[in-house]
Amino acid sequence: MVTAYDYTAARIADAAGIPIILVGDSLGMVVLGYDSTVPVTMDDMVRHGRMVSRGSSEALVVVDLPFMSYQVDAAEALRNAGRLMQEGGAHTVKMEGGVSIAGTVRRMVDAGVPVMGHIGLTPQSVNALGGYRVQGRTKAAARRVLDDALALQEAGAYSVVLECVPAPLAKVITERLTIPTIGIGAGPDCDGQVQVFHDMLGLFPDFVPKHARKYAELGSDMTRAFEWYAEDVRNGAFPSEAESFTMNERLLVELLGEES
Ligand code: KIV
Repeated sequence: MVTAYDYTAARIADAAGIPIILVGDSLGMVVLGYDSTVPVTMDDMVRHGRMVSRGSSEALVVVDLPFMSYQVDAAEALRNAGRLMQEGGAHTVKMEGGVSIAGTVRRMVDAGVPVMGHIGLTPQSVNALGGYRVQGRTKAAARRVLDDALALQEAGAYSVVLECVPAPLAKVITERLTIPTIGIGAGPDCDGQVQVFHDMLGLFPDFVPKHARKYAELGSDMTRAFEWYAEDVRNGAFPSEAESFTMNERLLVELLGEES
Protein backbone atom coordinates (compact mmCIF):
# COMPACT_ATOMS: atom_id res chain seq x y z
CA MET A 1 0.00 0.00 0.00
CA VAL A 2 1.20 3.49 -0.80
CA THR A 3 -0.41 6.87 -0.21
CA ALA A 4 -1.44 9.15 -3.06
CA TYR A 5 -3.31 12.40 -2.98
CA ASP A 6 -4.10 13.31 -6.58
CA TYR A 7 -4.96 11.95 -10.02
CA THR A 8 -1.43 11.86 -11.48
CA ALA A 9 0.11 10.18 -8.44
CA ALA A 10 -2.70 7.63 -8.32
CA ARG A 11 -2.24 6.80 -12.02
CA ILE A 12 1.47 6.20 -11.46
CA ALA A 13 0.95 3.99 -8.39
CA ASP A 14 -1.89 2.11 -10.07
CA ALA A 15 0.16 1.51 -13.23
CA ALA A 16 2.99 0.17 -11.05
CA GLY A 17 0.64 -2.50 -9.73
CA ILE A 18 0.37 -1.22 -6.16
CA PRO A 19 -2.71 -3.08 -4.92
CA ILE A 20 -3.94 -0.55 -2.33
CA ILE A 21 -3.80 3.24 -2.58
CA LEU A 22 -4.39 5.14 0.64
CA VAL A 23 -5.62 8.70 0.50
CA GLY A 24 -4.05 9.36 3.88
CA ASP A 25 -4.79 12.37 6.02
CA SER A 26 -0.98 12.74 5.94
CA LEU A 27 -1.95 14.97 3.01
CA GLY A 28 -2.37 17.62 5.72
CA MET A 29 1.40 17.69 6.09
CA VAL A 30 2.84 16.74 2.69
CA VAL A 31 0.27 18.50 0.48
CA LEU A 32 -1.44 21.19 2.57
CA GLY A 33 1.60 22.23 4.62
CA TYR A 34 0.11 21.86 8.12
CA ASP A 35 2.33 20.65 10.95
CA SER A 36 0.01 17.72 11.80
CA THR A 37 -3.03 15.87 10.45
CA VAL A 38 -5.34 17.50 13.01
CA PRO A 39 -6.56 20.41 10.80
CA VAL A 40 -7.56 18.13 7.89
CA THR A 41 -11.30 18.31 7.11
CA MET A 42 -13.89 16.04 5.55
CA ASP A 43 -13.99 18.35 2.52
CA ASP A 44 -10.21 17.88 2.09
CA MET A 45 -10.58 14.10 2.17
CA VAL A 46 -13.55 14.07 -0.21
CA ARG A 47 -11.74 16.31 -2.72
CA HIS A 48 -8.51 14.31 -2.72
CA GLY A 49 -10.36 10.96 -2.61
CA ARG A 50 -12.15 11.97 -5.79
CA MET A 51 -8.87 12.87 -7.52
CA VAL A 52 -7.30 9.55 -6.57
CA SER A 53 -10.30 7.45 -7.50
CA ARG A 54 -10.31 9.06 -10.96
CA GLY A 55 -6.64 8.08 -11.38
CA SER A 56 -6.80 4.45 -10.27
CA SER A 57 -8.48 1.66 -12.16
CA GLU A 58 -7.14 -1.47 -10.44
CA ALA A 59 -6.13 -0.51 -6.90
CA LEU A 60 -8.37 -0.61 -3.86
CA VAL A 61 -8.83 3.03 -2.80
CA VAL A 62 -8.87 3.56 0.97
CA VAL A 63 -9.64 7.06 2.27
CA ASP A 64 -8.92 8.24 5.82
CA LEU A 65 -11.70 9.57 7.99
CA PRO A 66 -10.07 12.74 9.38
CA PHE A 67 -9.79 13.86 13.02
CA MET A 68 -13.15 14.34 14.79
CA SER A 69 -15.20 13.03 11.86
CA TYR A 70 -15.98 9.73 13.64
CA GLN A 71 -15.22 10.27 17.33
CA VAL A 72 -18.38 12.19 18.31
CA ASP A 73 -20.88 9.42 17.67
CA ALA A 74 -21.56 6.49 15.37
CA ALA A 75 -24.30 8.32 13.46
CA GLU A 76 -21.90 11.10 12.44
CA ALA A 77 -19.21 8.54 11.62
CA LEU A 78 -21.63 6.72 9.34
CA ARG A 79 -22.67 9.91 7.57
CA ASN A 80 -19.04 10.89 7.01
CA ALA A 81 -18.01 7.41 5.83
CA GLY A 82 -20.97 7.53 3.45
CA ARG A 83 -19.70 10.85 2.08
CA LEU A 84 -16.22 9.42 1.49
CA MET A 85 -17.72 6.51 -0.43
CA GLN A 86 -20.44 8.37 -2.34
CA GLU A 87 -18.63 11.65 -3.10
CA GLY A 88 -14.98 10.79 -2.49
CA GLY A 89 -14.70 7.56 -4.49
CA ALA A 90 -13.54 5.49 -1.49
CA HIS A 91 -13.91 1.73 -1.68
CA THR A 92 -13.21 1.56 2.05
CA VAL A 93 -12.36 3.94 4.90
CA LYS A 94 -9.57 3.91 7.49
CA MET A 95 -10.00 5.01 11.12
CA GLU A 96 -7.51 5.52 13.94
CA GLY A 97 -8.12 3.84 17.30
CA GLY A 98 -8.87 0.41 18.75
CA VAL A 99 -10.97 -0.48 21.78
CA SER A 100 -12.34 3.08 22.03
CA ILE A 101 -13.86 3.04 18.50
CA ALA A 102 -14.78 -0.65 18.24
CA GLY A 103 -18.51 0.05 18.72
CA THR A 104 -18.47 2.58 15.89
CA VAL A 105 -16.52 0.22 13.65
CA ARG A 106 -19.15 -2.47 14.25
CA ARG A 107 -21.95 -0.05 13.28
CA MET A 108 -20.10 0.92 10.12
CA VAL A 109 -19.35 -2.64 9.06
CA ASP A 110 -22.99 -3.59 9.70
CA ALA A 111 -24.02 -0.70 7.46
CA GLY A 112 -21.82 -1.96 4.60
CA VAL A 113 -18.76 0.23 5.12
CA PRO A 114 -15.53 -1.79 4.96
CA VAL A 115 -13.18 -0.49 7.65
CA MET A 116 -9.40 -0.62 7.82
CA GLY A 117 -8.19 0.06 11.38
CA HIS A 118 -5.08 1.99 12.39
CA ILE A 119 -3.41 1.50 15.77
CA GLY A 120 -0.06 2.02 17.51
CA LEU A 121 1.04 5.56 16.73
CA THR A 122 -2.18 7.29 15.71
CA PRO A 123 -1.11 10.72 14.38
CA GLN A 124 -4.55 12.33 14.84
CA SER A 125 -3.95 11.90 18.61
CA VAL A 126 -0.47 13.44 18.52
CA ASN A 127 -1.44 16.02 21.14
CA ALA A 128 -2.70 13.34 23.52
CA LEU A 129 0.27 11.04 22.87
CA GLY A 130 2.77 13.83 23.54
CA GLY A 131 4.47 13.56 20.16
CA TYR A 132 5.21 11.09 17.40
CA ARG A 133 6.55 8.24 19.55
CA VAL A 134 6.88 4.50 19.13
CA GLN A 135 3.94 2.84 20.92
CA GLY A 136 3.79 -0.46 22.83
CA ARG A 137 7.29 -0.57 24.29
CA THR A 138 6.28 -1.36 27.88
CA LYS A 139 4.35 -4.48 28.92
CA ALA A 140 1.19 -2.46 29.65
CA ALA A 141 1.47 -0.47 26.43
CA ALA A 142 2.05 -3.62 24.37
CA ARG A 143 -1.06 -5.14 26.00
CA ARG A 144 -3.07 -2.06 24.94
CA VAL A 145 -1.92 -2.30 21.33
CA LEU A 146 -2.71 -6.03 21.22
CA ASP A 147 -6.15 -5.42 22.76
CA ASP A 148 -6.80 -2.67 20.21
CA ALA A 149 -5.94 -5.06 17.36
CA LEU A 150 -8.20 -7.80 18.72
CA ALA A 151 -11.06 -5.32 19.32
CA LEU A 152 -10.90 -4.10 15.71
CA GLN A 153 -10.91 -7.62 14.35
CA GLU A 154 -13.83 -8.52 16.62
CA ALA A 155 -15.69 -5.40 15.42
CA GLY A 156 -15.37 -6.53 11.80
CA ALA A 157 -12.43 -4.49 10.45
CA TYR A 158 -11.00 -6.23 7.39
CA SER A 159 -7.39 -5.13 7.98
CA VAL A 160 -5.36 -3.06 10.42
CA VAL A 161 -2.43 -0.67 10.01
CA LEU A 162 0.24 -0.96 12.72
CA GLU A 163 2.20 2.30 12.90
CA CYS A 164 5.43 2.64 14.87
CA VAL A 165 5.22 -0.39 17.11
CA PRO A 166 8.21 -2.60 17.96
CA ALA A 167 8.77 -5.30 15.33
CA PRO A 168 8.43 -8.24 17.77
CA LEU A 169 5.05 -6.93 18.97
CA ALA A 170 3.87 -6.45 15.38
CA LYS A 171 4.90 -10.05 14.68
CA VAL A 172 2.83 -11.35 17.61
CA ILE A 173 -0.19 -9.26 16.55
CA THR A 174 0.13 -10.47 12.96
CA GLU A 175 0.22 -14.07 14.17
CA ARG A 176 -2.76 -13.60 16.50
CA LEU A 177 -5.03 -11.89 13.96
CA THR A 178 -6.78 -13.61 11.10
CA ILE A 179 -7.16 -10.27 9.25
CA PRO A 180 -4.05 -8.85 7.53
CA THR A 181 -1.80 -6.33 9.24
CA ILE A 182 -0.15 -3.55 7.23
CA GLY A 183 2.93 -2.07 8.85
CA ILE A 184 4.64 1.30 8.81
CA GLY A 185 7.53 1.34 11.23
CA ALA A 186 6.37 -2.06 12.47
CA GLY A 187 9.08 -4.36 11.13
CA PRO A 188 9.13 -6.99 8.41
CA ASP A 189 6.63 -9.51 9.80
CA CYS A 190 3.41 -7.67 9.00
CA ASP A 191 1.33 -9.07 6.14
CA GLY A 192 1.80 -5.89 4.10
CA GLN A 193 3.61 -2.54 4.28
CA VAL A 194 2.55 1.05 3.67
CA GLN A 195 4.72 4.02 2.81
CA VAL A 196 3.96 7.70 2.36
CA PHE A 197 4.37 8.72 -1.31
CA HIS A 198 6.46 11.82 -0.58
CA ASP A 199 8.77 9.99 1.86
CA MET A 200 9.59 7.12 -0.48
CA LEU A 201 10.16 9.38 -3.47
CA GLY A 202 12.29 11.97 -1.67
CA LEU A 203 9.72 14.73 -2.12
CA PHE A 204 9.31 15.95 1.46
CA PRO A 205 12.41 17.69 2.80
CA ASP A 206 10.96 18.84 6.16
CA PHE A 207 11.27 15.47 7.92
CA VAL A 208 12.06 11.89 6.90
CA PRO A 209 10.91 9.28 9.43
CA LYS A 210 13.28 6.47 10.46
CA HIS A 211 10.92 3.89 8.99
CA ALA A 212 10.81 5.47 5.51
CA ARG A 213 13.01 4.17 2.71
CA LYS A 214 13.75 6.51 -0.18
CA TYR A 215 13.31 4.68 -3.48
CA ALA A 216 13.98 7.84 -5.50
CA GLU A 217 15.26 11.39 -5.07
CA LEU A 218 12.58 13.16 -7.08
CA GLY A 219 12.78 16.33 -4.99
CA SER A 220 16.38 17.05 -5.99
CA ASP A 221 15.69 15.90 -9.58
CA MET A 222 12.82 18.42 -9.71
CA THR A 223 14.97 21.22 -8.29
CA ARG A 224 17.61 20.50 -10.95
CA ALA A 225 14.95 20.45 -13.68
CA PHE A 226 13.55 23.85 -12.60
CA GLU A 227 17.07 25.35 -12.40
CA TRP A 228 17.86 24.01 -15.88
CA TYR A 229 14.57 25.37 -17.29
CA ALA A 230 15.11 28.83 -15.74
CA GLU A 231 18.65 28.95 -17.17
CA ASP A 232 17.37 27.92 -20.63
CA VAL A 233 14.74 30.69 -20.55
CA ARG A 234 17.30 33.28 -19.45
CA ASN A 235 19.81 32.35 -22.15
CA GLY A 236 17.21 31.89 -24.91
CA ALA A 237 17.65 28.11 -25.31
CA PHE A 238 13.97 27.52 -24.51
CA PRO A 239 11.71 27.36 -26.40
CA SER A 240 13.31 26.09 -29.60
CA GLU A 241 11.77 26.35 -33.07
CA ALA A 242 10.46 22.79 -32.69
CA GLU A 243 8.65 23.84 -29.53
CA SER A 244 7.02 26.85 -31.22
CA PHE A 245 4.09 27.25 -33.63
CA THR A 246 4.34 28.61 -37.19
CA MET A 247 2.00 30.67 -39.34
CA ASN A 248 1.93 31.96 -42.86
CA GLU A 249 4.26 34.95 -42.45
CA ARG A 250 2.80 36.66 -45.49
CA LEU A 251 -0.40 37.19 -43.44
CA LEU A 252 1.63 38.89 -40.74
CA VAL A 253 3.32 41.15 -43.29
CA GLU A 254 -0.14 42.05 -44.64
CA LEU A 255 -1.46 42.77 -41.15
CA LEU A 256 1.47 45.03 -40.33
CA GLY A 257 1.06 46.71 -43.72
CA GLU A 258 -2.59 47.48 -42.88
CA GLU A 259 -1.53 49.19 -39.68
CA SER A 260 0.87 51.61 -41.36
O1 KIV B 1 -2.25 9.24 6.63
C1 KIV B 1 -1.43 8.37 6.31
O2 KIV B 1 -0.64 8.52 5.39
C2 KIV B 1 -1.45 7.12 7.07
C3 KIV B 1 -0.32 6.17 6.85
C4 KIV B 1 0.89 6.68 7.52
C5 KIV B 1 -0.66 4.80 7.29
O3 KIV B 1 -2.32 6.92 7.85
